Amino acid sequence: MKKMLLAVLVLATFALAACGAGGAVATEASIPAEFAGQTNPLGADAAASGAEIFKNNCVACHGEQGHGDGPAGIALSPRPKNLPDLANTVGDDYLFWRISKGKSGTSMVGWEGALTDEQIWQVVAFIRTLK
Ligand code: HEC
Repeated sequence: MKKMLLAVLVLATFALAACGAGGAVATEASIPAEFAGQTNPLGADAAASGAEIFKNNCVACHGEQGHGDGPAGIALSPRPKNLPDLANTVGDDYLFWRISKGKSGTSMVGWEGALTDEQIWQVVAFIRTLK
């Protein structure tokens, strides 16, 4: 019985991963309810701390300016895409959700646990300053 449960879980995980990698660009609508509508509780000055966090944790893949051209990013499939372009089309809730939970089917892991909510909001504030 336990094995059966495990098999179902594994299958479900694959199905989910397949959806994530299916190419459909996640729209605002796909933000889970617990994240949807959240706005950055921190002011724009949080971007300074966010820059540090970005440098230490994200630049390797996303590149200094978030253009997806970090040394570890160019070898990935899919490659990290341009964060400032993305930021122009999505809300803070989307960014906070993605950074917290990651993106299935890609090398983007979830950072909740590794970073505090406050640190993730600081990074969101920093991403808003990228061009
Ligand atoms: C191991 C490489 C790697 C690291 C480290 C990494 N990312 Fe990512 N990130 C990716 C990849 C690959 C994707 C998926 C492709 C894409 O959509 O950009 C992604 C996706 C994202 C997205 C969502 C893009 C979308 O379309 O939904 C955001 C936002 C993001 N990363 C922010 C960050 C932040 C902030 C950090 C640091 C805390 C970080 N990433 C660390 C590789 C990485």
